[in-house]
Amino acid sequence: MSHVHVFDHALIQHKLSFIRNKETGSKEFREMVEEIAMLMAYEVTRDLPLTDIEIETPVCKTQAKVLAGKKLGIVPILRAGLGMVDGVLKMIPAARVGHIGMYRDPETLKPVEYYCKLPADIEERDLIVVDPMLATGGSACACIDFIKKRGAKSIKLMCLIAAPEGIKVVQDAHDDVDIYVAAVDEKLNDHAYIVPGLGDAGDRLFGTK
Ligand code: PRP
Ligand code: URA
Repeated sequence: MSHVHVFDHALIQHKLSFIRNKETGSKEFREMVEEIAMLMAYEVTRDLPLTDIEIETPVCKTQAKVLAGKKLGIVPILRAGLGMVDGVLKMIPAARVGHIGMYRDPETLKPVEYYCKLPADIEERDLIVVDPMLATGGSACACIDFIKKRGAKSIKLMCLIAAPEGIKVVQDAHDDVDIYVAAVDEKLNDHAYIVPGLGDAGDRLFGTK
């Protein structure tokens, strides 16, 4: 069974409250989403393998730890996932970025895929799929299905806010995928928006309606 990690770090919770507030404009919203993604990436990468190297400090030679060079990839689900990419890249600048375009049809609420460009060596990479909202779970599941079909073997899902319904859908379909979130909210409303949530993440990031 996959694990759900909820980050209760004070800075993450503080910034999350800002982006939930409907008075927060697009500029601040974008900045905060990037910052939260950066803080979450710090936790998500906690267990990356390390290796020892010898270096020389101004005082003496010593053994020091560096990342063992695992190949990483970030896969934002367009559009809203784009808002998280720069924050994650600040923590892991060598990661490659693969894009998946997917929107939720407002009538059927089913994900519709419209774009895909992934790193060629996707099967060798540890991938972090990023999307601010995990609502019904349809978009995340479709994205994970899609990248698994193209060879992805190691996948984590990182979202800002999840509904319990979406977590269950992803866990039932992909029990090898751990889920990292800043908050698990109460429920979905009749339009499958997360309650209390933050509204439409894409619209708030990019100032559309
Ligand atoms: C939002 C969000 C997720 C999806 C979540 O995208 O960014 O991708 O909805 O909903 P689900 O869990 O029910 O699938 P949206 O479809 O609004 O597209 P956008 O990012 O282009 O605005
Ligand atoms: N997509 C969003 O952007 N917000 C929600 O609450 C649900 C889906």
